[in-house]
Amino acid sequence: MTKKANLLPALLGGDAAVTHAAPAWPVTTDEDVARMTDVVRSGTWSWLGPQERAFCEEYKQFIGSHYCACLANGTVTLQCALQAVGVVPGDEVIVPGMTWVATAQAAMDIGATVVFADIDSETLCLDPVAFAAAITPRTKAVMPVHLYGCMCDMDRILEIARAHGIKVVEDVAHQHGSEWRGVKAGAIGDVGSFSFQQSKILTSGEGGAVTCNDPKIYQTIFALKQVGWTPENPAAEPCDKLVPGNRYGHNYRLTEMQAVLLRGGLSRLAVQNARREAFAARLAAGLEQLGGPLRAAKRDPRVTKQAYYAMTLHFDPAQAGGLKREDYLQALNRENIGFGGLYWPVYQSPLLNLYDTTSPIPFRDPARVQDYRTLTLPATERAFRETGVTLPNHFLLGTDAYADQILAAVAKVNAHLPQIRATLDAQQAKDGNA
Ligand SMILES: Cc1ncc(COP(=O)(O)O)c(C=O)c1O
Repeated sequence: MTKKANLLPALLGGDAAVTHAAPAWPVTTDEDVARMTDVVRSGTWSWLGPQERAFCEEYKQFIGSHYCACLANGTVTLQCALQAVGVVPGDEVIVPGMTWVATAQAAMDIGATVVFADIDSETLCLDPVAFAAAITPRTKAVMPVHLYGCMCDMDRILEIARAHGIKVVEDVAHQHGSEWRGVKAGAIGDVGSFSFQQSKILTSGEGGAVTCNDPKIYQTIFALKQVGWTPENPAAEPCDKLVPGNRYGHNYRLTEMQAVLLRGGLSRLAVQNARREAFAARLAAGLEQLGGPLRAAKRDPRVTKQAYYAMTLHFDPAQAGGLKREDYLQALNRENIGFGGLYWPVYQSPLLNLYDTTSPIPFRDPARVQDYRTLTLPATERAFRETGVTLPNHFLLGTDAYADQILAAVAKVNAHLPQIRATLDAQQAKDGNA
């Protein structure tokens, strides 16, 4: 590798700045394999077995909630949580415009009307002002989503929700272990919902959990996931005496194989979260020092611990020498990194096309539904189209030296913005003429 090749961005023919391999995800250990073998040999593979019970105990202690129930994924957790706080068909549920589609689907699938509200352009999480403006007499619940690497402003959201008698179902699919003023996400609102799907920072491939403090909410969620049966006395050993819960429940159970993986993952989570936090802080400080179009989202001082499904960053087109976000990320990713964009605004997802008869959403009364075809949420759309950037969680498990290589890549790209633009323009012209 020549010195000159080192100074040039890879997109201009130089060597990639990042030579470390990206950390692998999910992490697997020999202990996980040994414990899994024991579970397989035990013959108890599901039905509220010892692994699931132990995980629920450990997870509720980690979150600081009175109750924890495991479910099949992080979508049915949301559905059951909404039902348990009293959402019935025809109620309105407020959902941020920027989230994974499942947040909205969970409300729709139980017959609620989803009202989308805009996000805060710094955190990309539900904007409390937009939440307040979206409230109507039919609003029953709000779903703050702690998205990517920032938490929602839970002080304002709770204050507004309490003033209007609105239930708060936190979607914590992204942030197992985040803390707002010393209280873990998932223990702040009325219910917390977690996903353990493969890409999540606590994972069993698929799976989910619900945390709450109210025994009635817990009993309802339990009945909904256990085909109608629920603990008679949730304060005692919860699974031993199940009685009819008077709910139309389904089988949304988790298996013992999943639970044993979750116990292994949970035993590593605090250390991994601390590593991600240190990595993100180093990257944020380095980017600030570099200046240029890329910066980390500012951390709210009320966030006492930040867990990261991904690091939230912002791209400023005004500082990018005419490069669009996609072009800038293309140049960066040629340096052997994995920056990405954001989810689609949920209301623009083809899934939510209420008027396409080939894809009807169940239980809908179009007359009472917000018209998503004409809806625009400016902060959501600007972040999606132009400015939002994410760095997935496993990159943040890297060493300081890895973070420094990423910073070196950004510095190199920032120093060559006009040349990168000229190269991409020439490439596009050539492709256009071809
Ligand atoms: C914010 C958010 N909510 C809910 C979900 C749904 O979780 P699951 O895929 O486990 O159903 C996801 C996951 O993909 C998510 O990212």
